[in-house]
Amino acid sequence: MPGPASVELGENIAKQLNADVLTAEARIFPDGESKIRFGKEVYKENVIIVQSTYPPVDRHLIQLIFMMYWLAKRECSIILVIPYFGYSRQDKEFLKGEVISLQALAQLFSSYPVKHMVTTDFHNISALGYFNFPSYSISAVPAIADYIKKKYELKNPVCVSPDFGGSARAEALANLLNVQSIVLKKERDRITGEVRVAEEDLRVAGKDVIIIDDIISTGGSIAKATRLLKKYGARKVIVTCTHALLVNDALKKMAEQGVDEAIATNCVPSPISKIDISSLIASHLKSL
Ligand code: R5P
Repeated sequence: MPGPASVELGENIAKQLNADVLTAEARIFPDGESKIRFGKEVYKENVIIVQSTYPPVDRHLIQLIFMMYWLAKRECSIILVIPYFGYSRQDKEFLKGEVISLQALAQLFSSYPVKHMVTTDFHNISALGYFNFPSYSISAVPAIADYIKKKYELKNPVCVSPDFGGSARAEALANLLNVQSIVLKKERDRITGEVRVAEEDLRVAGKDVIIIDDIISTGGSIAKATRLLKKYGARKVIVTCTHALLVNDALKKMAEQGVDEAIATNCVPSPISKIDISSLIASHLKSL
């Protein structure tokens, strides 16, 4: 069932699974409230909900909760496909007194008859342990690697992770492309949100650099990383991510620092979301 935030992706997944499509239409009231209307009645069915919770995150989340509630009332069992899981980054109490938003959501979701959850490049896979049903994060890296191989003729390429947390992802992409990977040292001020990328001697002169991250939100991390890589002589900077949230002027901010091209998966719809991950999700669902 394609949720209102993921109509195209949900329909693609349904096609590949030969599944019926149950429509869930959203109406947004002038005060911002959402209302969901299902296209037909169901009872005791297995329903896959596809709903990415990208911005406006709270709106897409509440729509998801309404859908789970309606299906639970009809004694359906639910498989959740949440390609981008909003709030996945608030998975700990970083500063004293902070709510662990992800844990709060996991507790809420546990009140519905969810059998499995599938997500894509979840920010910190170990935090899937908050959910009391089996939850799995698919890696979009193979789809990203295929796209890069087909689309670009790169000169001396190297993969870069903007931070330590993304190093395994950059290494996985580097392995698929048969190139080296580099990890930058990024720090974020937990109070101001300001990002700093440590200055170090980077051996990227004359090379084409592929920066890979899970999420591009404001574009700040990528902009800072690109500035440094260009300073050390990178020839071309291609940026890729799974979840292109592209808040405000993220694309402009990155281009101003020298990003030559940006591409993302269609977990989140955006002008750069060119890599289709529906078949990766569908084949995982077939294996359940
Ligand atoms: C953080 O650890 C994530 O992996 C991303 O690097 C981060 O969310 C990107 O945010 P922004 O685009 O606002 O710098």
